[in-house]
Amino acid sequence: MGGARAVGWLAAGLVLAAGGCYHIYKLTRSQRQGGHRPPLHPSRSAEDLTNGSYDDVLNDDQLQKLLYLLESTDDPVITERALVILGNNAAFSANQVIIRKLGGIPITGSKINHPNHSSKEKALNALNNLSVNVDNQVKIKAYISQVCKDVLSGPLDSAVQLAGLRLLTNMTVTNDHQHMLSKYITDLFHVLLTGNGSTGVQILKLLVNLSENPAMADGLLGAQVDSSFLSLYDGHVAKEILLQVLTLSQNINNCLEKEGCLAIQPTFPKGSLCFLLYGEKCAQKMRALAEHGGADWKEKVTVLPKF
Ligand SMILES: *[C@@H]1O[C@H](CO)[C@@H](O)[C@H](O)[C@H]1NC(C)=O
Ligand SMILES: *[C@@H]1O[C@H](CO)[C@@H](O)[C@H](O)[C@H]1NC(C)=O
Ligand SMILES: *[C@@H]1O[C@H](CO)[C@@H](O)[C@H](O)[C@H]1NC(C)=O
Ligand SMILES: *[C@@H]1O[C@H](CO)[C@@H](O)[C@H](O)[C@H]1NC(C)=O
Ligand SMILES: *[C@@H]1O[C@H](CO)[C@@H](O)[C@H](O)[C@H]1NC(C)=O
Ligand SMILES: *[C@@H]1O[C@H](CO)[C@@H](O)[C@H](O)[C@H]1NC(C)=O
Repeated sequence: MGGARAVGWLAAGLVLAAGGCYHIYKLTRSQRQGGHRPPLHPSRSAEDLTNGSYDDVLNDDQLQKLLYLLESTDDPVITERALVILGNNAAFSANQVIIRKLGGIPITGSKINHPNHSSKEKALNALNNLSVNVDNQVKIKAYISQVCKDVLSGPLDSAVQLAGLRLLTNMTVTNDHQHMLSKYITDLFHVLLTGNGSTGVQILKLLVNLSENPAMADGLLGAQVDSSFLSLYDGHVAKEILLQVLTLSQNINNCLEKEGCLAIQPTFPKGSLCFLLYGEKCAQKMRALAEHGGADWKEKVTVLPKF
């Protein structure tokens, strides 16, 4: 029996006896990798694993089987179920380590290219849960560029775009991998200004994370941003968004102050975020917010100095 056929069997979602599943897997595996792998004592069939409750907490052996199944199936229904179970299991910190050690991150990562958007979204969600562990982030960073490109080209306001943005936000909670987003900042602002509120809030969380890092200040200030960005600095804008844009400009200004950049006039091109934030129109917006401001965001209003 050839590897391709065995994969077909799994994809068809046949009820496989535990031993049979192992046997089929061994055939496909040994052809590709010379059969070096630890012995397995699977207790559940492939279908059991994907047919049970999404909330089942799996042991090491079951996680290993789940990953084998994910690696070998082409069936979007099985792929999606396996990814949801994997993502739910990755909510537990012990499992985040086990899944990495079983080689689960590249297996999950390869599914972000899945042609089915629903499977793709579930892969991004699973990676997001795995990314809570910093050692996992070191492996997940290999997918950052792809996720950025997908987020920027993906259907606007789609579930898959939001899932990608959540993953990028989670990957920027520390400064370690933020530089990888530098070249996408202009485009992220564009999605912010064209997408709806849910997309916008998620992008702002990401941009706010970047703005805490002085090393990212140049990239943010130099980004080409449409002047409609300033319309977000308005008391009528949803509070969640207003708070984030205020935090963003406050953070950027703090970075410049710390670096002593405010004394010298930075040279950023016309149409850049720097140009907008330190222009007269922004100062007017800020003064209006300070005057009519609600108690919850008033303290975040910073009237930026003009250059
Ligand atoms: C999978 O679920 C279907 C429908 O809920 C059920 O009919 C079937 O027996 C289940 N298969 C296994 C192996 O549990
Ligand atoms: C994607 O897969 C799901 C099942 O997981 C299916 O319901 C859906 O129709 C598929 N979408 C496309 C475009 O094939
Ligand atoms: C991810 O983890 C959260 C808890 O941190 C959990 O609620 C969620 O169901 C998990 N699964 C996925 C696929 O995101
Ligand atoms: C990262 O993502 C997970 C799952 O979606 C979430 O529970 C967690 O709060 C996020 N962590 C941070 C620091 O944002
Ligand atoms: C944004 O669009 C998505 C997809 O149409 C929708 O599910 C979501 O509710 C929208 N969010 C807002 C705040 O309008
Ligand atoms: C990044 O954003 C997340 C979610 O908004 C937040 O929990 C976290 O504290 C932020 N991290 C930094 C460094 O700003």
